Amino acid sequence: MTKNSDLLFEPFISEKLQLPNRIVMAPMTRSFSPGGIPGEDVAAYYRKRAEAEVGLIVTEGTTVDYDTATNDINVPEFVSDAAIAGWKRVVEEVHAAGGKIAPQLWHMGMARGKEVGPAPEQASIGPSGLVAPGKKVSDPMTMEQIEEVVAKFANAAEKAKEIGFDAVEVHGAHGYLVDQFFWEGTNQRDDEYGGSLLKRTRFAVEIVKAIRAKVGNDFPIIFRFSQWKLQDYEAKLANSSDELAQFLAPLVDAGVDIFHASTRRYWLPEFDGSPLNLAGWTQKITGKPAITVGCVGLDDEFIKAFSGGGALATNIDPLLEQLQRGDYDLVAVGRALLSDPDWAVKVREDRFSDMTPFTKEVLGSLN
Ligand SMILES: Cc1cc2nc3c(=O)[nH]c(=O)nc-3n(C[C@H](O)[C@H](O)[C@H](O)COP(=O)(O)O)c2cc1C
Repeated sequence: MTKNSDLLFEPFISEKLQLPNRIVMAPMTRSFSPGGIPGEDVAAYYRKRAEAEVGLIVTEGTTVDYDTATNDINVPEFVSDAAIAGWKRVVEEVHAAGGKIAPQLWHMGMARGKEVGPAPEQASIGPSGLVAPGKKVSDPMTMEQIEEVVAKFANAAEKAKEIGFDAVEVHGAHGYLVDQFFWEGTNQRDDEYGGSLLKRTRFAVEIVKAIRAKVGNDFPIIFRFSQWKLQDYEAKLANSSDELAQFLAPLVDAGVDIFHASTRRYWLPEFDGSPLNLAGWTQKITGKPAITVGCVGLDDEFIKAFSGGGALATNIDPLLEQLQRGDYDLVAVGRALLSDPDWAVKVREDRFSDMTPFTKEVLGSLN
């Protein structure tokens, strides 16, 4: 008998990326890579999800080669020989289990804070030196710094391809560096990187183009973006589908293959007058495959997780309805895959009553 959940287990076939099903592990920072080096435990953690029918793993944010890219010395990096060797092991393990994997390339920008991470003495960088709207703590990034960061993203992507990753994801969401350029709240520049929405996309466009130039035409580039910011959950880059189209067009032209539209609750319509969520609109506007995310299999959103909040396991009926309509192509699952590495298998077998709730204890170890 065909079950609705079978939709999740149909292969995903796109020009550059083929996956056995529609389930993606969402990027989740775990801070279990001492000194920035992902070890065997990290490789085993990802392998476990690949073995249990996760079609694509997007790794935790891993930092590009910039001293102030992170606030945490246990966040993995993507530069040193030791880190690269660690990532190679991760890729080997995931591939051995039949899975596919993309690193999420990350720079926190001003969201890093101060006097933290591998280079505590250095100041954080951002488009206008703003940590949040109205809160200026340093000078705007110089042209030199902009060019340098763009090149670092491109180098990391080239390295990812060499290592054997199947794609890369650029972290352009949640109020981190790339998103700090997108958002008026943190981008007050009056040069070609600030002002209109088009100009605010320029930094990301340069990153995507630079990556494309390094990895060639066949390597998939996934781009993650969000309306909401850690600095303001109600923030919006686009107030209408027309504005969303203006925002996405330059990124499509630059060479993005798949968009990852980060929302906190996948079932919420993005704009009035249509049931489409952000991923739904993104797919409709761009014609590119889109990934949805946010509370899949859980009844409450993820920000609470950082202050100890849990969530109960739920069915995914609204998701299957959206998938049935063809709103989007892929479904990223975050916390449900932390508490339950076998989440995808349980969904396929319709074992919803057997799902593990998400509790704060889950974040305490790398299982
Ligand atoms: C512990 C934790 C760490 C996260 N780290 C990242 C990250 O490094 N990069 C990112 O883009 N999103 C990150 N997120 C957001 C997730 O990718 C995802 O969008 C969010 O958890 C919503 O999905 P969920 O409701 O299925 O958990 C993180 C979420 C959690 C719970």
